[in-house]
Amino acid sequence: MCHSARVTSTTWARAWERSALGPGGFWLREEPARHFRTTVGPVLRDAMLALLADVDLRLGSPSIIDVIDIGAGDGALLRSMESALQGTRLCGRVRWTGVDVRPRPQDLPAAIDWHVRDATAHLPDTVTGLVMAHEWLDEVPVDVIERDARGVDRVVLVDDFGGQALGPEVADDQRAWLAAWWPLADVGERAEIGLARDRAWSRLCAGVAAGTIIAVDYGHVRSERRLTLRAYRDGELLDAIPDGLRNLTAHVAIDSCAAASPPRATVTVTRQADALAPLAGALPDPAAVSAGDYAAALSYVMECRYVRAAKGLGGHYWLRADVG
Ligand SMILES: C[S@@+](CC[C@H](N)C(=O)[O-])C[C@H]1O[C@@H](n2cnc3c(N)ncnc32)[C@H](O)[C@@H]1O
Repeated sequence: MCHSARVTSTTWARAWERSALGPGGFWLREEPARHFRTTVGPVLRDAMLALLADVDLRLGSPSIIDVIDIGAGDGALLRSMESALQGTRLCGRVRWTGVDVRPRPQDLPAAIDWHVRDATAHLPDTVTGLVMAHEWLDEVPVDVIERDARGVDRVVLVDDFGGQALGPEVADDQRAWLAAWWPLADVGERAEIGLARDRAWSRLCAGVAAGTIIAVDYGHVRSERRLTLRAYRDGELLDAIPDGLRNLTAHVAIDSCAAASPPRATVTVTRQADALAPLAGALPDPAAVSAGDYAAALSYVMECRYVRAAKGLGGHYWLRADVG
C-alpha cells in the first residue's frame, strides 16, 4: 500500500497557527532565544522599568500593580525587571505575570506567575498596571490575499509544503481592511491582512482598566507596505513554509493596530531608536571608575547602540496605549 504525504490546503492564517501552535508545533518545542535576536537585555529592562515607574505615578501608586508580559518566551524580561527592583518599595506591590503557550520556565523565580495559554484567545482582564507584548504581535498569523486576473481579491491557500493556490474571494471584513490599510492595485499583487493583530491588540487594551499597554515589533505603516511573510530557524532566514519546523513571522501593520485601540486610550507610535534615546548615556571618565565598572558601562553603551541601530532593531515600532 502506498502512503502519500499529508498535503492540506488551507488559509495562511490557519496553516500558520497549526504550524506554530498545533500538535508538535514550533513554539511547543523550540526555545525562542535560539531562533532570533531580541532586544531583551539590560537596555530594554531599564526602559520598561522607567515606563513602570511612570505608570505607577500616574495611577497614584496602587497597592497592587500588574506587570504582564505577553509572549514572554523564557521569561527573561520579567526576570530581569523583578531582579532589578528587589529591595525597592515598588517591588513589594508588583504582581508579575508571564503569558505564553510554552510551559513555565524551570528556574523562573516564584514571585513571577506564569499562565500557559493562547493569548489571542484568553487574555488577562481587569488589569491595573503595565502590559508588555515584545515581539508577540508579529507571531499572530496573517492571511495572504492576492488580486486575480479578473481583478478580484482572493484568499491565498497554502499546503504543508508551501504550495499555494488562490481560494475564495475575500470576506467583507478583509475587504474593508484592505481598502483602509493595504489597497491592491494590480493583478497578482498581494497583501498580508493585519486584522487578527488589530483584534489581538484591541483585546489587550480592553483588558486593562488603568495603565499602559506597549507592543514592540517590527512593522510598517501604509506608506512603507511590503510583503514580509518569512521564516527563521536558528537565526537563518528561510522560505515561509507552514511545516512546524520554522518560526513564521510577518511585519505588523502598526498603523492599523494603533487605529484599533479603544477610544478611551491615548495612543503613541515611536521608533525604538527614539524610544530608547534617553538611555544612550555617555561613558564615564576611565580615571574615575574601576576597570570592571568601565567595562560594564562600555557594554551597556554598546548594547544601546545595537538596539537603536536605524537599520536593525532601532527600526522596531513601539505602539503604546495609556488608559485610565
Ligand atoms: C518571538 S518570541 C518572543 C519572546 C520574548 N517576548 C522576546 O522578545 O524575547 C514569541 C513568543 O510568543 C509566544 N507565542 C506565540 N504565539 C502565542 C500565542 N498565541 N499566545 C501566547 N504566546 C504566544 C511564543 O511561544 C514565543 O515564546
